Amino acid sequence: GHPSAFATIAAMHSPAPFPAARPRRLRRDAFTRELVREHRLHPSDLIYPVFVLDGSERREAVASMPGVERLSLDLLLPVAEDCVKLGIPAMALFPVIDPALKTPDGQEATNPDGLVPRVVRALKQRFPELGVMTDVALDPYTSHGQDGVLDEANYIINDETVAILVRQALTQAAAGVDIVAPSDMMDGRIGAIRQALEADGRIHTRVMAYSAKYASAFYGPFRDAVGSAANLGKADKKGYQMDPGNTDEALREVAMDIAEGADMVMVKPGMPYLDIVRRVKDEFAMPTFAYQVSGEYAMLKAAAQNGWLDHDAVMMESLLAFKRAGADGVLTYFARDAARLLRG
Ligand code: PBG
Repeated sequence: GHPSAFATIAAMHSPAPFPAARPRRLRRDAFTRELVREHRLHPSDLIYPVFVLDGSERREAVASMPGVERLSLDLLLPVAEDCVKLGIPAMALFPVIDPALKTPDGQEATNPDGLVPRVVRALKQRFPELGVMTDVALDPYTSHGQDGVLDEANYIINDETVAILVRQALTQAAAGVDIVAPSDMMDGRIGAIRQALEADGRIHTRVMAYSAKYASAFYGPFRDAVGSAANLGKADKKGYQMDPGNTDEALREVAMDIAEGADMVMVKPGMPYLDIVRRVKDEFAMPTFAYQVSGEYAMLKAAAQNGWLDHDAVMMESLLAFKRAGADGVLTYFARDAARLLRG
């Protein structure tokens, strides 16, 4: 006969079979894990930052960054060759400037025969297929370690600084750099640099803007590496780099840099700011990069050296996290180690 209304209602209310679903089925074997994996790291996602010294046959370890060395050009060339072999698309150059060349206005940054232009020319000549990126900022060149010029009240003067940065970027472009990367956080510098590049006929020079760059304590080892830490002393960069409490502001900064002519945007630091990477990627759908900075590298290295973390495992997991957050690429001091692992 017909089920009673009571039986029908009871059936509707009976619990689903336990468990309702078994997501572990897809995790059981390596082949299904591979099949359903959403994000992957590839050597082509990586940009390798390097510290370059004047002179020849010079190699100096950076104490706070185990495995990272400052190298003179002759010793950097084999590193560049290694990047090409590993399929790393680009290197980012950071100069260690002779203290005797540092001035309050950082004018060595605009010297066409300075360290960076010389290294760029040599790299592009030897390895034309390797992308070369240079930092546009004055901190390696200033006697006070700030990214711009100061007034009497130690305020970083925006527009005067931008005028010098424009000359720095033009100098780098004239040396043949592929990507200029303003990391200074002055207002309006992307537009000023883009206009100057266009006016100079440098229509191919790409601009990767450090758009959302925070005033972070994670840059400490980098400042040791380029030798700006002592010059900076107890001063900070909070008057131009972003407040770590802000996220909407990052979107406004990125929007401005895109409107001013950035080809690619960057969030920095990396791991502690993956929420910003995700918001920027979702909002603008631009080529978006993240910088796993010196302090992040130092933390992972130190823990691995203590045997507290598995070096290769945390390296790969940390880099994959950038892809998951929406980054198209990562600047990382692990680039060669990671690419080597990925190549098997
Ligand atoms: C310079 C610059 C910094 C970094 C990249 N470019 C340091 C800073 O802003 O003080 C940091 C990179 C790192 O920590 O690995 N403007």
